Amino acid sequence: MILVTGSAGFIGSNFVLDWLAQSDEPVINLDALTYAGNLDNLVSLKNDARHIFVHGDIGNFQLVSQLLAEHQPRAVINFAAESHVDRSIHGPEDFIQTNIVGTFHLLEAVRAYYGQLGKEAQNNFRFLHVSTDEVYGSLAKDDPAFAETNRYEPNSPYSASKAASDHLVRAYHHTYGLPVLTTNCSNNYGPYHFPEKLIPLVIHNALGGKPLPIYGDGQQIRDWLYVKDHCSAIRRVLEAGTVGEVYNVGGWNEKANLDVVHTLCAILDELSPRTDGKPYKEQITYVKDRPGHDRRYAIDASKIERELGWKPAETFETGIKKTVKWYLDNQAWVKNVTSGAYQNWVGKQYKA
Ligand code: NAD
Ligand code: TYD
Repeated sequence: MILVTGSAGFIGSNFVLDWLAQSDEPVINLDALTYAGNLDNLVSLKNDARHIFVHGDIGNFQLVSQLLAEHQPRAVINFAAESHVDRSIHGPEDFIQTNIVGTFHLLEAVRAYYGQLGKEAQNNFRFLHVSTDEVYGSLAKDDPAFAETNRYEPNSPYSASKAASDHLVRAYHHTYGLPVLTTNCSNNYGPYHFPEKLIPLVIHNALGGKPLPIYGDGQQIRDWLYVKDHCSAIRRVLEAGTVGEVYNVGGWNEKANLDVVHTLCAILDELSPRTDGKPYKEQITYVKDRPGHDRRYAIDASKIERELGWKPAETFETGIKKTVKWYLDNQAWVKNVTSGAYQNWVGKQYKA
């Protein structure tokens, strides 16, 4: 049995779906169901006895302690977080609360649980913390990609709160001997991605005839990884990673935002052309830049490849096409998540 937190969100739900497609080891899924958590993502597991959903907060020490005592998991995988940079700029408090204070309470509950396990169960136990490359800050054009040894230089409230959580996880290993693993991954994309982030937002707006907003000059660079490759990396680190180590995970796919948006437009032109016959790229609109916008992220994923034999299965070209197809085939999912509170966010973030 494993305990997975935040698994009604984008990456967590992909992780649980993939996990149960490949193994019969049950999953307890703890999620607070914030705006980003969506049980529709897990509807295919509704009658699956291997999946136990618990609605709750990682910061609830009592609840987490009770779940650990009852189910005796051999691992905890922590996806739960506030994850959107722009929201962290509008309101950092939830980020401090969940990503820092929440992770602290979770670690406390896990430390108490781990302390009373027998020797063999202790040897087998792992706490895997899922983090981001954004903790390393921003690269200039010709800088080498982020290695695990790079300094932490977070620039947004989101990345600062993730950096703090990474430090707590590290400290619980060094101080209390908790067997932790940390992964720092680049930008993910794929099914169940909430349409506040660049790729799903652009697909959604394109199909809805709305502007495709490019922050600043659109030349900011991100490394993109198909979400299922991130999930396979996490499974591999859990299986074979060295306790206390950090693994950078990336797709070797550095792309400027404007190029990503042009690629999405071209795929949509082919798979779902506009009724007026014009190209989707006509909807591209330049909007004001994000404050403190990191210019470039790039991941050096050679450690995880060398030590654990992990490599991404998808290229950007194959992954992005699958992603667009998924959104075209799952318009009901998109409709559901973009009703209600989503409209308030779009109104606030993209007002002229
Ligand atoms: P997401 O925002 O889609 O999902 C987060 C999930 O966590 C939601 O289901 C939400 O309900 C849940 N949650 C939030 N606060 C909680 C709390 N206090 N207690 C319990 N559950 C809570 O995020 P995501 O994109 O799936 O990211 C998952 C993790 O991966 C995050 O830790 C993020 O920092 C990290 N990460 C994301 C990316 C990316 O590109 N999306 C890249 C690298 C790392
Ligand atoms: P995002 O998907 O929010 O991920 P992150 O900020 O964590 O990298 O944004 C990816 C890039 O796209 C980032 O450089 C900001 C940019 N962006 C836009 O240009 N327009 C948008 O509407 C959004 C949401 C993002």
